[in-house]
Amino acid sequence: MTSDEMEITIVTGNKGKLREFRELAEELSGGLLRVKQADMPKEEIQADRLEEIALHAARVISKLLEPPFFVEDSGLFIEALNGFPGPYSAYVHKKIGNEGILKLMSGVENRRATFKCVIAFISAPSTQPKLFVGSVSGRIAESIRGDKGFGYDPIFEFSGRTFAELDTKEKNKVSHRGQAFKKLLQHLGLNYGGEHGIRNASSLP
Ligand code: IMP
Repeated sequence: MTSDEMEITIVTGNKGKLREFRELAEELSGGLLRVKQADMPKEEIQADRLEEIALHAARVISKLLEPPFFVEDSGLFIEALNGFPGPYSAYVHKKIGNEGILKLMSGVENRRATFKCVIAFISAPSTQPKLFVGSVSGRIAESIRGDKGFGYDPIFEFSGRTFAELDTKEKNKVSHRGQAFKKLLQHLGLNYGGEHGIRNASSLP
């Protein structure tokens, strides 16, 4: 590794999230940030806020894993359902899936929804986690569309297309995960590449 390079561990068992983070790291850091995966169980407390869930998980994992690493917690908040499934998104997706959400939304006119992502990053042993948050607003589609992505992607519509109709690069440009990760890379001084990177921004006339 050169002095500019850095390695970071992402604690997730979710292949979809990992694929997105890997592409983001490559694109935004221009290859300077290497991503490793730790697929270990994330201790998820029941809480109303993703921030609390991510902070708790990061603190538990800091006893088992060497920093720098981060854990991520995300969720889908549907306005007409008062933010449901929100922090319970993983459980609800497992139990009723996208079909179940569409049934709950049947006949509902207000289809506004937001994806939110919270990254809890631990940079060194015995340090507190630092949070990076991203969100994206869209709507719940009337039907399942697209075969890319994962989770709720086939029912989350952004600018007329569901996230499952976008390839990873397109989704990353606008997604909750992309926003949160960009903030982390800026914090690390590594957001160089890509359309939204510092290098491009500073080279603007
Ligand atoms: P958790 O962050 O592992 O608790 O997962 C939250 C739930 O939301 C899981 O069911 C994920 O599949 C889903 N989810 C999180 N991010 C996304 C996304 O970018 N697209 C679609 N579903 C997502």
